[in-house]
Amino acid sequence: MSSPICRIFPTPRASLEGLNTLDFDNGLESRSKRVFSLSLNFEYETQEIKQVMRAVVYDQPFKVTVREVEKPKILHPDDIIVKVTTSCICGSDLHMYEGRTAAQQGIIFGHENMGIVDELGPGVTALKQGDRVVLPFNVACGRCTNCEEGRSAFCTQVNPGFGFMGCFALPSEPNLSHRYVAMGPYPGGQAEYLRVPFADFNALKLPPGKEHEADFALLADIFPTGWHGVQISGFKPGESIAVFGAGPVGLMAAYSATLRGASEVYVVDRVPERLAKAKEIGAIPIDFSKGDAVQQILDIRGGKEVDRGVDAVGYQATTGDGKTEQPNAVLEALIRVVKPTGGLGIPGLYVPSDPGAPDSAAAKGYISFPFGKLFEKGLTIGTGQCNVKAYNRYLRDLIIAGKAKPSFVVSHELPLDQAAEAYDKFDRRVDGYTKVLLHP
Ligand SMILES: NC(=O)c1ccc[n+]([C@@H]2O[C@H](COP(=O)([O-])OP(=O)(O)OC[C@H]3O[C@@H](n4cnc5c(N)ncnc54)[C@H](O)[C@@H]3O)[C@@H](O)[C@H]2O)c1
Ligand SMILES: [Zn+2]
Ligand SMILES: [Zn+2]
Repeated sequence: MSSPICRIFPTPRASLEGLNTLDFDNGLESRSKRVFSLSLNFEYETQEIKQVMRAVVYDQPFKVTVREVEKPKILHPDDIIVKVTTSCICGSDLHMYEGRTAAQQGIIFGHENMGIVDELGPGVTALKQGDRVVLPFNVACGRCTNCEEGRSAFCTQVNPGFGFMGCFALPSEPNLSHRYVAMGPYPGGQAEYLRVPFADFNALKLPPGKEHEADFALLADIFPTGWHGVQISGFKPGESIAVFGAGPVGLMAAYSATLRGASEVYVVDRVPERLAKAKEIGAIPIDFSKGDAVQQILDIRGGKEVDRGVDAVGYQATTGDGKTEQPNAVLEALIRVVKPTGGLGIPGLYVPSDPGAPDSAAAKGYISFPFGKLFEKGLTIGTGQCNVKAYNRYLRDLIIAGKAKPSFVVSHELPLDQAAEAYDKFDRRVDGYTKVLLHP
């Protein structure tokens, strides 16, 4: 679908000294003409017409459009261009979609991407054209202290995390639209092509072919993130765990806990299709629209708390009606439901500023929760973005070995052109929209 055009043709012209560059935009395609003066009084005009592709672009809250944008180019010797085969819509995209972040109009969405290596910068050594790869949602440099120590989500060069709201751009690449707000200056992959920086470090190679496409696509984010949520709760095999949220991340956390030998897994949500998926993988579904989730779990367990808890909901948590936002709802519940000296894993997103917060404290990222009770119980808390690189190759190998099949969570696989409808339905959590994979 992209239209590569680059023509060189001789043009009779009055002689020009040196190099002249004329830029103009005809509204549809932006062209730059370079006129070279050559010896023998011939002039050659090189017309480079920017190549275009289709992509999902954020227009305004609750509105994305699939439209033509400039196709990405190699900008640095370490870059690759990937021809995208699958890009997923994530619950994290919805925070931007709903206007609940500082995301600017014009961002190309899509941070859960996989595809085929199409072009390589001259500095790339570990990949070749035609390689099938999946990309971590958090781009990382591979060279800073945090990257070297396996904390690629906190790469100090590229992605300083949500401590930097707004536009963080490398000095060499200002003003590019992001794939996720405050996560580096990289246009997203809900598009036909994607530029991947620091490609040797970021791209995880996959077996060639088309097998396990949906499973592998989930290695970009939610499978590692669910695993991470369990990891940062301090979980050990044989323990019991309560996961709040049965969205893709919560389901992946529950699935990871099962793979890792949990004795009991509780999954709390109110969306019937999501609770049904939790049940499908052997977890105990808890519907919080039918009463206090913590009390329901304690009742089943004869009053005994669980060992670990995971918050896979984040700051847009609601009360049982599913409409009234209460940003501390899950934190409060976890502190009640986890046993003294147990652990809380919090992959669910909390932000330092929220334009749509229900109160002025939450608008500044101040979430109140019973810290006294947390202290009294000696609970530990793990938070933050998932270090995808720390887990993805092992989870890939579990998929290849037939020991993990995370794609049970996928509800819809759609062409890229249906992205606007998919965002709308996924956002309203209707028609069973649990996890959507887009294919350009
Ligand atoms: N840490 C990371 O690296 C990372 C990566 C990906 C996603 N996330 C975050 O994880 C969270 C979950 O992502 P997702 O894609 O599954 O989102 P999602 O919005 O699809 O799912 C959230 C679920 O939580 C449920 N919910 C709301 N209030 C609740 C409550 N009080 N108790 C129990 N359940 C409740 C909703 O019904 C919904 O099904 C989001 O905040 C997302 O931004 C974090
Ligand atoms: Zn995601
Ligand atoms: Zn780094």
